[in-house]
Formats: sequence, structure tokens, C-alpha cells
Amino acid sequence: MYDFKIEAADKPALYREMIAAADALTDGEPDAVANMANIAALLWDTLPDLNWAGFYRNVGGELVLGPFQGRAACIRIPFGKGVCGAAAATREVQCIDDVNAFPGHIACDSASASELVVPLVHEGRLLGVIDLDSPRLARFDAEDVAGCSELARRLAPRLASMDGAAPEALRKP
Ligand code: SME
Repeated sequence: MYDFKIEAADKPALYREMIAAADALTDGEPDAVANMANIAALLWDTLPDLNWAGFYRNVGGELVLGPFQGRAACIRIPFGKGVCGAAAATREVQCIDDVNAFPGHIACDSASASELVVPLVHEGRLLGVIDLDSPRLARFDAEDVAGCSELARRLAPRLASMDGAAPEALRKP
């Protein structure tokens, strides 16, 4: 059983603890789907005021829904479309205070008011994005951007193998 009790005094500490838990959850596990599923659950459990937390994967140059927590969501998002597509196309974090003011925003859940999307890049390849939605306007700030960017950086090598084959770094001798 995994029972992470994450109680932090401030947001940077919250992210430090969450990243340590993410590290422990994915350590030595090469299966990307299992890792994304556990991290989606961890994000959902740890970060307050979310109505969606999960992954879109880069499948042949299109974003395809991955493991998540929240309501059923759009399955395919072309690069360049919506907030997730913008993050995939530019490989830059998208921190959107008001999604209804974002041109081309894709409303999967009408409860979403603000959104944070962080690209997952490993060895120059875009693997997908982490997507967080909140029902609160301007829910995400610079500390969320820094924390989620660090999480994505640490996680990317453990999501590199989408077919379950062990990447070199994890292969047992
Ligand atoms: N709102 C997103 C689509 C994904 S959902 O929020 C889960 C967007 O505009 O890319």
C-alpha cells in the first residue's frame, strides 16, 4: 500500500514532497502507463482545487488522452489546438488564468476556469504533456509552474518507454 501523507507549510515544500513521492512511486518501474496512472492519482490527491489532472501522450504527432483523474475528457487534440496543443507545439509551459479567454480553448469540462499544461520532453523528444485544470480562476502561479516543471523533468525518463519495454537506465543486468 502507498500512503503518502503530504502536508506542507508552503507551496514549494508541497511540490518538494510530491516530487519525492512521485520518485518513490515510479522508481524502477518501466511501464509508462502504470507510472502516468499513479502520478495522475498523486497530483489529484495532493494539489487542492483541481477538477482534472492527467496526461496527454504524443502519439504520432497528435495528443491522445492518457491516464487521468476527473471527468471523461476529449480523446484527441491536434498540436496547436487548445491549451494542451499549444504546449505541445511550442514545448513551452502554458499557465492560463482564464481558459475562456484563451483562443481555441477546448472545453472538456465546463467547470474548468484555469489551466496549467507542462510539456514532457526526454532526449529531445516530446512525450506528451501534464494537464491540470481548476474550477478557480488564476489557480496556478509561478510556484505551480516551477513545481510542475520540475516534476515533468524528473518524470520524463520514466515515461520514455510507452510500450512497457525497459529503457536502458532501468534495465537490470
Ligand atoms: N482544456 C484543454 C483540453 C483538455 S481538458 O482540459 C482535459 C485544452 O484546451 O487543451
